Amino acid sequence: MNILILRNEAEIGQVLGDLFCALAREKKNAVLGLATGSTPLPSYRRMISRYKAGDVSFKDVITFNLDEYCGLPADHKNSYRTFMRQELFEQIDILHKNTHFLDGNTNDERAESERFRRLIENAGGIDLQLLGIGRNGHIGFNEPSDAFTQEAYRTALTESTIAANSVYFDDCPMPRYAMTMGVGSILRAKRIVLVATGEAKAEAVKAMLEGEVTPGCPASALQNHPNTTVYLDPAAAALLSV
Ligand code: PGA
Repeated sequence: MNILILRNEAEIGQVLGDLFCALAREKKNAVLGLATGSTPLPSYRRMISRYKAGDVSFKDVITFNLDEYCGLPADHKNSYRTFMRQELFEQIDILHKNTHFLDGNTNDERAESERFRRLIENAGGIDLQLLGIGRNGHIGFNEPSDAFTQEAYRTALTESTIAANSVYFDDCPMPRYAMTMGVGSILRAKRIVLVATGEAKAEAVKAMLEGEVTPGCPASALQNHPNTTVYLDPAAAALLSV
């Protein structure tokens, strides 16, 4: 894995936003793997400003999001569909039909997982996957467990994740389950960029980069991916030994 320590989250957002724009310009039907949470926002803001400046178009781009809560209507203000619409899709020229999400309300988890796998495969695979990392080392909603997960599945969220994300749920209880791409499906991306900023992520970053590869820290699986770059601010890098 390559590790880059930049000055702050704004600088990381600029670099990564530009990377996504470059891919959209260079490759027709580029396939982007997108993430939610606070970490990707500076990258999305950069993509929006480059679009508004007329530098780039996303109309041929195809996207897949990592995960979605179970038990929320798709148009709920806290669904990840809504998040993506508000924070990125409505502000660029991407076509709605080219944006893909797991259905958190499916009655058939296996069929939904297979549908998503095939959609990604038919699009040619994910060219560039954006990831954050949870304080417990999760990627997507792959929480620490006894075995690495493979295809998309329905997972129970851990107390750490519930504590981190419940701040966004001011008028209803936070869901306890989510559909997420598995670690195996994430690792099929041709290129991965993972961002971690702030001291709350420092321990997870150390475990991911310097610990053993173990499903106890799902992000450690990235050590086995051939083209991953980790972007850190100084606070998230603070516990690294090198
Ligand atoms: P955050 O979440 O960007 O809101 O910190 C990242 C994650 O949980 O993967």
